[in-house]
Amino acid sequence: MGELDGKVAVVTGAGRGLGRSHALELARLGARVVVNDLGVAADGNGRDESAGQAVVDEIKSLGGEAVAHFGDVADWDASKAMITTAVETFGDFNILVSNAGFCRDKMIFSMEEADFDSVLRVHLKGHFCGIRHASQYLRNKGKAEGQVYGRILSTASEAAFFADPGQPNYSAAKAGIIAITNGAAQALAKYGVTANTFMPRARTAMTLVGQTAQFFEKPDEGFDTFDPDNVSPLVGWLASPAAAKVSGNVFIVWGKQIAIMEYPRHAGDFDSPDAWNHESVGAALGGFFESKEPVKDSFIVPSVF
Ligand SMILES: NC(=O)c1ccc[n+]([C@@H]2O[C@H](COP(=O)([O-])OP(=O)(O)OC[C@H]3O[C@@H](n4cnc5c(N)ncnc54)[C@H](O)[C@@H]3O)[C@@H](O)[C@H]2O)c1
Repeated sequence: MGELDGKVAVVTGAGRGLGRSHALELARLGARVVVNDLGVAADGNGRDESAGQAVVDEIKSLGGEAVAHFGDVADWDASKAMITTAVETFGDFNILVSNAGFCRDKMIFSMEEADFDSVLRVHLKGHFCGIRHASQYLRNKGKAEGQVYGRILSTASEAAFFADPGQPNYSAAKAGIIAITNGAAQALAKYGVTANTFMPRARTAMTLVGQTAQFFEKPDEGFDTFDPDNVSPLVGWLASPAAAKVSGNVFIVWGKQIAIMEYPRHAGDFDSPDAWNHESVGAALGGFFESKEPVKDSFIVPSVF
């Protein structure tokens, strides 16, 4: 018996990289899986259905059940069809892992409108469409039956918290994903549906570009820290009955590490006896910011572990 026996999962962008690992892990736990993938390159160009089909074949060869869906996650109707495919093929829908996406990195002063629009579309609208259609199905079922088995899992990035000078589009999309997911956690709590966000690090087509590639290199021997398979056990656990009370959280996950992040914390409180004016704001905040480190001229991911 697998922990997800009888459950139906949709994993977007599951043709390769992290999505493939998540789909295989959910299938290993017993879920029947809709493998969504458009088969685009790391910059969103091109189209190839063979990767998604290969993951379906791999799950089946391991004794699992899977079906392919080759739609665009950010297309309203295609996204709806993804959930419908789950229901029509396997009789139900329970778990959504939104993962699909691509990058078009540029500094803020060089970024074109199309770079911004396309990355916001695939990540933020892609998550919105999936969560929208998934939550409609789960809410309707929850209203009819009381409680329902539902898990919404979203993929953000540490760029949402710590920013990245070369990814203004991607950082913004990933920050928005946390907001949408936590809102869904609140909207669906009464039906027993959970929603969580995780921020992975892994060696994939997305990270094997430019200077980033060396950071993710596979070691000649020993533990492979950036193997995408290191991320999927958290996904499988959050999708499982054991995580029924875990909702509205943000995780960072890679290698042998899992960090749980909380909402931004208060760094200071200032009150004024009268209405604020230019001078009183300066008097209150000036000293505080003098003692703070200024922003650095580079991309630094603070250590959270
Ligand atoms: N790899 C990392 O270190 C890392 C870090 C932070 C966040 N992420 C996030 O993890 C997720 C997976 O990325 P990855 O690293 O596995 O990249 P990847 O490029 O290997 O996989 C992305 C997959 O998404 C698919 N895809 C792209 N646009 C699509 C669309 N419109 N509809 C359906 N499928 C589409 C691609 O065909 C591809 O198979 C992404 O959301 C990414 O932003 C990755």
